[in-house]
Amino acid sequence: MVAQVIPVEECDLVIFGGTGDLSRRKILPALFQRFKAGQWLESGRIIAAAKSEHSNERFRQIVKEALLEFAGLSDADDPHMTAFLERISYVQIDATGDLGWKALLDSMRAETVRVFYLSVGPSLFAPICQQLVAYGISDEDSRIVMEKPFGHDLESARALNAQLADCFDETQIYRIDHYLGKETVQNLMALRFANALFEPLWNSQYIDHIQITAAEKIGVEGRGAYYDRSGAMRDMVQNHLLQLMCLIAMEPPSAFSPDDIRGEKLKVINALSPVGPEDVTRGQYRGTDDTLSYLDEVGDATSTTESFVAFKAHVETWRWAGTPFYIRTGKRLRARMSEISIQFKEPPHNIFKPLGKGLSGNSLIIRLQPDEGIKLHVMIKEPGPGGIRLLDVPLDMTFMDLTDKTDVAMPDAYERLLMDVVRGDQTLFMRGDEVEAAWRWTDQMIAQWENRADKPDPYDSGSSGPEQALMLMHRDHRRWREIEA
Ligand code: BG6
Repeated sequence: MVAQVIPVEECDLVIFGGTGDLSRRKILPALFQRFKAGQWLESGRIIAAAKSEHSNERFRQIVKEALLEFAGLSDADDPHMTAFLERISYVQIDATGDLGWKALLDSMRAETVRVFYLSVGPSLFAPICQQLVAYGISDEDSRIVMEKPFGHDLESARALNAQLADCFDETQIYRIDHYLGKETVQNLMALRFANALFEPLWNSQYIDHIQITAAEKIGVEGRGAYYDRSGAMRDMVQNHLLQLMCLIAMEPPSAFSPDDIRGEKLKVINALSPVGPEDVTRGQYRGTDDTLSYLDEVGDATSTTESFVAFKAHVETWRWAGTPFYIRTGKRLRARMSEISIQFKEPPHNIFKPLGKGLSGNSLIIRLQPDEGIKLHVMIKEPGPGGIRLLDVPLDMTFMDLTDKTDVAMPDAYERLLMDVVRGDQTLFMRGDEVEAAWRWTDQMIAQWENRADKPDPYDSGSSGPEQALMLMHRDHRRWREIEA
């Protein structure tokens, strides 16, 4: 297989918060990889804007160190890196004052796509957009890219959307959900809509239930202040996990176009029924000899924020009536593992029963990380003599194998998403109404536990989460899949 690299247009990309963590860990390494692959053109330029004072040389040194640490480079004189660094400059800017804006305007080229990546706290989204307009730096073809958190609840998300709408058209706004940039997530769409095989089975008549797990081994890792205000529900469910759920549950769009796809996803969110307290479990990790407890990490012994949440949801449509979606996510669990499991029903009649053979339903396992890939579990006869013995075997569609044998490297989610921004393709970005609908639904769950002054259940670090989460499934005579890497 030969990788196809289609160069994007010439572009000036401004990273606000250019010296920050996200910029150094993700954005700059992703741009570097695309530059090295020949997709981000030699003529493309990156302008970092932040409040501290740096010369271009000093900032390039910061980028160099970031690339050596996060882009898998070991040679400090790597020729690609040297060429990449030449494309980068730095502007000191005051997001809410006048410093730097004129200089930024002067550095923009005419007839070039302008991308403004707001890698800053959400309180600066609106002020920066207003300055871009006031100084005439953005034009009607410019793109604005934003990271979550996109609001803290429905009210704040609405206010933010309204402020953005004063400055930009919705077609210019790119709300990043990096889960949508993951290779397997896009493959889920290919699997569903490029094959006729699954669609007739993709409903409650054949699917018993669906599980979505996003488990992490790490704790809150120095993000305690942000995380303690958010918790797993706001940090992971409102965005990443709901997006995955949408891609599984949505109806086939009439075209692979941003608004057709986003319109179908929105219908799924709007069809979610409220989840009652009996169908939700929240947890908080305990410490070990080597790791801090959640409460110690956030430095607040009274915090009731959840580092784990599991719940059962229903999509109230003809297709999904009676098929529950079990969702769980948490930090400091047994392993880092994100996957979707589609559990099909058992065959309606077991002809092997007289031989004492039980059957299990097929399952389709869509693994996002690690070892991304898709496996379809089917029952076969164990090869060899000795009568019929049935075996559950996975049909493996693991893409890592595919890439190992060729020179196609698996791109990081940010690489794909950034190139989509430059191309002007919003398919993998959340639209404002989707974000609001997601908050409307999560807000009702959060309000329930806030009103009850509910406390999360403690769970051991390195476990699969609180006992109560297991019960959520056992009660329905079902089981979670093991959390394992
Ligand atoms: C982020 C959350 O959006 O996603 C983090 O804010 C979380 O808390 C991260 O750790 C998980 O991303 P990934 O790609 O490692 O699964």
